[in-house]
Amino acid sequence: MGIIYFLLLSCLGLAIAAPRRNCGSAGEVENGHIDYSEGTEFGDKIVITCNPGYQFIGKQGPRGMVCGDQGWMGKLPSCKAVTCDPPPMIVDGTFSPIKETYSYGDIVQYSCQSGLTLNGSKSVSCSDDGTFQPAPPTCIMVQCKDPDVKNGEWVQGSRPPFGYKATVTFKCRSGFIMNGESTQTCEINSEWSPGLPTCETVTCEPPPMIVDGTFSPIKDTYTYGDAVLYSCQNGLTLNGSKSVSCSDDGTFQPAPPTCIMVQCAHPGIENADWVQGSRPPFGHRATATFKCRSGFIMKGESTQICEMDSQWSPGLPICE
Ligand SMILES: *[C@@H]1O[C@H](CO)[C@@H](O)[C@H](O)[C@H]1NC(C)=O
Repeated sequence: MGIIYFLLLSCLGLAIAAPRRNCGSAGEVENGHIDYSEGTEFGDKIVITCNPGYQFIGKQGPRGMVCGDQGWMGKLPSCKAVTCDPPPMIVDGTFSPIKETYSYGDIVQYSCQSGLTLNGSKSVSCSDDGTFQPAPPTCIMVQCKDPDVKNGEWVQGSRPPFGYKATVTFKCRSGFIMNGESTQTCEINSEWSPGLPTCETVTCEPPPMIVDGTFSPIKDTYTYGDAVLYSCQNGLTLNGSKSVSCSDDGTFQPAPPTCIMVQCAHPGIENADWVQGSRPPFGHRATATFKCRSGFIMKGESTQICEMDSQWSPGLPICE
């Protein structure tokens, strides 16, 4: 209270009577820096910091001094080169180089006993505050469980035991589809990453409907191996595969058939008689057998079949 009263009085007095006292330069701080941004008059404060790689003796952090009646109050601190004590030893590991003290910027490298994995930063360095940074690593045993992917199988990669960074690639048995990533890596926490996939039964959406035809059975979804049979409306012929089935890739294979009208023209052969076969209309697989009249000889096949392209096959004969 007394001091504040005194300060108040002297401030008032100075303000009226004379310019404020100016403390001027505080001196030199070797390997450090003085911030005068507040000014150097009575009541102003300077802040002293050490250059990188240097630190105050004793208490750390920036220090301040105030301009008082009698000049700068206190004693300028000094900055000395940073040194670090050795970093901590770790269980099941060591570091190098090993020295009694280290200077600013020195780096030590940690390593683990064989079979163990370093978790954290391998190298640490002697930093500003006189300690090694970052925190030392630990040595841990990394071992991932045998990966069990139901309905899946090992394709390539490591064999047990699965240590740090071991990788395994899986595929699903046929009829199953993979949900997740096929390649997995054993991570530092002894877990597979990004996480074991699953193999799920393949399902198919219904196959496409066709013009003038249908298929059966009709369901909402089908599972791997299910087959459907296509059929055409009366009088039409199925062109393509009658049966398609739900395949590995979740679609029906092969492509669905089409329904077409097959009708061969009435076969008229000069100087020949119809002997036997189908009656008109001549649809798919209708047959007709001919014989030349006497005095004529046949060139070509006597029996013809009506094919998908509505043409007689192998081609109508002639009687010469
Ligand atoms: C590795 O170190 C980090 C940080 O210290 C720690 O959080 C983590 O649990 C450690 N991992 C294992 C698998 O020990």
